[in-house]
Amino acid sequence: MIDILKNLSNDDAGTYYRLTEDAYFHLDPVTTPFMNLGIWPAKNILVAQHDLVREVLAFAESSSAFRLGSKFTLLEIGPGWGGGQQVIRERWPDVVYHGLNCSKRQIEYAQIITEGSQNTHFHLGFAEDLESWPKVRIDMAIGIESVLHVTDKKLLYSRLRAHGVNQITLAEILVEDQAVVNSNPLFRPSLRNTASLDQYKSDFIAAGFHDVSHVDISTRVFPGWAEALAAVEPGKFKGNSRILRQFCSSYSKIAALAESGKIKYVLINAGVNS
Ligand SMILES: C[S@@+](CC[C@H](N)C(=O)[O-])C[C@H]1O[C@@H](n2cnc3c(N)ncnc32)[C@H](O)[C@@H]1O
Repeated sequence: MIDILKNLSNDDAGTYYRLTEDAYFHLDPVTTPFMNLGIWPAKNILVAQHDLVREVLAFAESSSAFRLGSKFTLLEIGPGWGGGQQVIRERWPDVVYHGLNCSKRQIEYAQIITEGSQNTHFHLGFAEDLESWPKVRIDMAIGIESVLHVTDKKLLYSRLRAHGVNQITLAEILVEDQAVVNSNPLFRPSLRNTASLDQYKSDFIAAGFHDVSHVDISTRVFPGWAEALAAVEPGKFKGNSRILRQFCSSYSKIAALAESGKIKYVLINAGVNS
């Protein structure tokens, strides 16, 4: 088997998602507008992924920095196929929503499934590139498994702060022992830029977000996701079966590494107290 992901030489997030986005889309038999690992147990991948977004929003509301006004402006970094926008809209109906994604295909699909939803805008570009950001004041930023790809997180947070953001809420895969990524070529494309919990916290604090809290939900994410991937029948899978095999292999290893705390799944709130 040629390891497509393993052989990425210039393995930036854009290349990684161009190769894998279609496989993510087909993981659930009815297709899924989410690309996250889900909260388990759940009856299927779609429900698990939907539940994860809901849990992230509930966690965002638990932050002391959270101020749900009648209308606030939210930037979602890496909104995938657009499923998250729908969950956000259900919970915060008056939000002015901006989604920023480096994948044109995902944005086009997200625009189709959110058509008719008021105050919804998608922007094509990398979070690292200020030019692609919405030219408006932003109150809050959310990222579900996306900011882990950003190389200079401190710079990103400083720029968000300068845009008016007083709360950032993330769901992230963290790596406590970078050696596990360096020693496994399958992990490098997706995990090479992530960091430890301490590093996340110090980047937030350096950027002016002093109120940082987190919850570790590794045990509710990794084992269930690895089992769900293993249960996808290759014969019925409409995406690239080689990518599916590589997902299965890397996520079963990640689930094992999570047991010893070397890889973690956490929700993080970072806020500015005013
Ligand atoms: C694992 S997917 C998660 C998608 C979505 N948040 C969800 O929960 O379904 C990561 C997303 O982040 C986007 N992404 C990755 N790196 C990015 C970057 N540097 N700037 C903007 N988007 C990025 C990818 O295109 C993809 O949509």
